[in-house]
Amino acid sequence: MRKIFLSKWTKAVVFVACLLPLGSLGWDALHNGLTANPIEYITHTTGDWTLRFLLITLVITPLRKILAPELIRLRRMLGLFAFFYGCLHFLTYIWLDKFFDLAEMWKDIYKRPYITIGFLAFTLLIPLAITSSAGWIRLLGGRRWQILHRAIYISAVAGVIHYYWLVKSAVIRPLTYGAIVGVLLLWRLADRFWPRSGAMQAALKSQP
Ligand code: HEM
Repeated sequence: MRKIFLSKWTKAVVFVACLLPLGSLGWDALHNGLTANPIEYITHTTGDWTLRFLLITLVITPLRKILAPELIRLRRMLGLFAFFYGCLHFLTYIWLDKFFDLAEMWKDIYKRPYITIGFLAFTLLIPLAITSSAGWIRLLGGRRWQILHRAIYISAVAGVIHYYWLVKSAVIRPLTYGAIVGVLLLWRLADRFWPRSGAMQAALKSQP
């Protein structure tokens, strides 16, 4: 198992796999598969994948303890893909939905709570994406870097609330995502009571 996670091919395969949702969207676009409401379809697909990648990134920490520490090598890439799909999601909204009408966008952020919280979820990911490199870990110090990167939990919770508030009746999926974030948060809290060592090395090891 460890050999697989250490292989340079694993990273490449995961990278390509992470691009599949985008590829699928491109395929749909080329084959008239974007439904009668393409903007809604793209918004929903990119929103779904932003949340999924956030959860996949969060699940790496417990999995690396249970399965193999080498899994940490994938965390940064998965987190950046969450940000990437978040950018596409936000871009769809501001470009295709609002035609770069910033006044209209601010009105939405101010008036529609699900947009406000979605915006918060996305904004929180920006400093995390910027500081995801090994250079930033060194600059901030492992401890401060880790504290900053806990914001991914707040972003995931905000993303779930954003989803829950925008659906009218189909609450099963947002509630399922919420339950997963809840379990991961509980695991994290429990993990605080376990002896931890080499936090800085673990953070540095996660970088390419
Ligand atoms: C980390 C940040 C975000 C996450 C995880 C996220 C996630 C989601 C999810 C899961 C959906 C529903 C997809 C579905 O129904 O299958 C959605 C829809 C949507 N999101 Fe986001 N989102 C985020 C940020 C934003 C931002 C910043 C905006 C705009 C400022 C935004 C605007 C929308 C809109 C307009 C919809 C469709 C609403 C509708 O169907 O009426 N989201 N998002």
